[in-house]
Formats: sequence, C-alpha cells, structure tokens
Amino acid sequence: MPQQVRGVIAPGKDEPVRVETIVIPDPGPGEAVVKIQACGVCHTDLHYKQGGINDEFPFLLGHEAAGVVESVGEGVTDVTPGDFVVLNWRAVCGQCRACLRGRPQYCFDTHNARQRMTLLDGTELSPALGIGAFAEKTLVASGQCTKVDPAVAPEVAGLLGCGVMAGIGAAINTGQVGRGDSVAVIGCGGVGDAAIVGARLAGASKIIAVDIDDRKLDTAKSMGATHTVNSLTTDAVEAVRGLTDGNGADVVIEAVGRPETYKQAFYARDLAGTVVLVGVPTPEMTLELPLLDVFGRGGALKSSWYGDCLPSRDFPMLIDLHQQGRIDLAAFVTETIGLGDVEQAFARMHEGDVLRSVVTF
Ligand code: APR
Ligand code: ZN
Ligand code: ZN
Repeated sequence: MPQQVRGVIAPGKDEPVRVETIVIPDPGPGEAVVKIQACGVCHTDLHYKQGGINDEFPFLLGHEAAGVVESVGEGVTDVTPGDFVVLNWRAVCGQCRACLRGRPQYCFDTHNARQRMTLLDGTELSPALGIGAFAEKTLVASGQCTKVDPAVAPEVAGLLGCGVMAGIGAAINTGQVGRGDSVAVIGCGGVGDAAIVGARLAGASKIIAVDIDDRKLDTAKSMGATHTVNSLTTDAVEAVRGLTDGNGADVVIEAVGRPETYKQAFYARDLAGTVVLVGVPTPEMTLELPLLDVFGRGGALKSSWYGDCLPSRDFPMLIDLHQQGRIDLAAFVTETIGLGDVEQAFARMHEGDVLRSVVTF
C-alpha cells in the first residue's frame, strides 16, 4: 500500500522550501523503503532549491541520511527490514567499464529507485541525488543502503552519506595520504574539515588549514590541523611552502571550488606532490596555467568524487573508527533541527555559522 508521509519540497526556483504530504509507493524490484531517522543539510540541497543543478522541480530534498529499512522489493537480498543503514547516492552498477576494471569507485552508471514518489495530486518528485531524505520515509535502490552498526547515533551515521565522506575520502582514498606526509587543506568548511580528519587518520605529520575566515580556522584546529593560514592576509602558497621547508605540501586538498584556490592548490604542492580537487566549480569557471608549470612540476592532479568511496567498505570502517574514539564524527553536528526548519538552516549555512544542521525525526 502506498503510504503518505511528510517531506520537504523545493517547489520552484528560489522559492522557499516547505513541508508537504508525499506519497511513497511500495518498493519495486531491487528497491527499499527506508524510515529516515536523521538527514543532514548540505550545500547541494540549497543548489537544488536555487535551480543550480537542474530544473526538474519539484524536488524532494535531503540526501545525507541514516535510517531503518522498513520494507524491500522483489529480489533484494543485501538488506532486510530492520537493518540500520546509511544511504548513498552512488549505488554502483557492477557492469560499466570502471566497475569491470575493478574500480567501482569510478562507476559512472550509478542507479537510484525506478519507481517515483509523488505529491498527493500525482506530481512526480525529483529526489535530491536520488535519495530525498528530508522525509519520514523515502524510496531508494537497495544498493543505496549500507548496513552499519546500529549503536551509532543516526545524526552521526548519516553524515557519511555525503560531505564528511567526500572530505575524509579525498584524503585517504584519492590523495592516498601516507604516514608522515605534509597536507594542506584549502577551504575549511564541512568538507575541508573532514579532509583534515582523514589526513590525521592517515598519519599526516603536518596538516595546514587555509581559509579566509578565522572562525573556520579555529574549527579546523579542533579537527586536527597543526597549522593555520588566513589567506586573506597571507599569501597561501608562500605560507604553505614556508611551513614545509620551502617545498610545498605532499598532498594539497582543495575544498572551495574557485579558480584562485585551484591555482593555490596547484602551486602549494611539493614537486611530485598530489593535488586533490574536491571543491565543485561552476560551469563558467576557467583556469589559465603556464603549460611549462604543468609539465615541469610532475606529480598528480586528481579530482575526487564522493571521496572515491566504496560505501560497503568505507561506511562501516568509519563508523567503527568513530565508535572506537579514533575519529570524532559527532564534532560535525552543530545542531539538530526539525523537518520544518530546513529553510532557516539554509540561511545559517549561507552565513557560515554551522558545519552541519541535521534534521532528526
Ligand atoms: N580561500 C580559502 N577559503 C575559502 C575561500 C578562498 N578564496 N573562499 C571560501 N573559502 C572557505 C569558506 O570560508 C569556507 O570555510 O571555504 C569554505 C567552504 O566551506 P563550505 O561553504 O562550508 O562548503 P563545504 O560544504 O565544505 O563544501 C566545499 O566541496 O564538495 C564540495 O560542493 C562542495 O564546492 C563545495 C566544497
Ligand atoms: Zn559501474
Ligand atoms: Zn551533499
């Protein structure tokens, strides 16, 4: 029986979001209905609302979530009702070139639920990143559910569904930070801070946080940065070089998504170092670099998608490390809020006042 639940809808470009009754169909083959317990507010939700992703309004927002599987469709064997799961927006296909080459983290044929959730009048909803978890329940592909230890708080577990995984994964999966490496992180919002946590976990000796906001640098320090640089008042590249015996960092992680910070990342790395680009630029942004510098500096330029994570490998591992007290994922939760508070949470996020507001149910 289709169910009616409450969910947060972005009705049209730049219109305020609102709570509406939505209809969740029974799960079809390969699908699961998940009762959401917590869902973080991410910049991408705001971008959907602003029409910056596509214009397939109305959107059902929310994509950084944990909850309990309520029911599963035909053929689902990986999860069963009652499982505590973290949702991911990249259920890998197992069949594309990347998957067949044994690199499913690069799968570009990821899939979501095929059936559609709707408004009461039948209007089809576009779930943000194929999830739509600012809702009491949502419908996903079963491959989007990863079972984790139910002892962890849902508002903490859900963080792994997006920004925190993107940042930690940028350091440990994409950047392959090693013991003793020097690491610079440019942009210390939620994603950059998570990269700092990942770098620390990987055993980096120096972690240099770069930001233009002193409040962000203070938080970065509490997350594990050993040095901070305010790039409004100090040249970021010179500062990073100065802190690394004139060499530049072994791994530089860019978590802003602007031409000037891409450029800083490029020049702040050691010769043969690695640059990891996590910040997402807008379509019109370009960057000009002397080819001789590109050629002459060696090393690797990498972009990191969703922290190049494999949810089945990385989510349970990071939950374990959190439970053991070796990383503190709870430090990313600034506040828990209600379903009706998402619009205000966007405003606070825009002001840079929160790392994560998390809707709890
Ligand atoms: N130099 C350094 N830091 C900057 C600059 C700059 N020119 N401009 C902005 N920042 C800092 C901000 O002060 C803030 O601390 O970058 C940080 C960005 O953080 P958030 O806005 O909280 O964004 P976050 O969620 O961390 O995502 C960062 O990663 O995955 C991508 O789409 C995401 O592009 C975004 C980026
Ligand atoms: Zn694939
Ligand atoms: Zn997100």
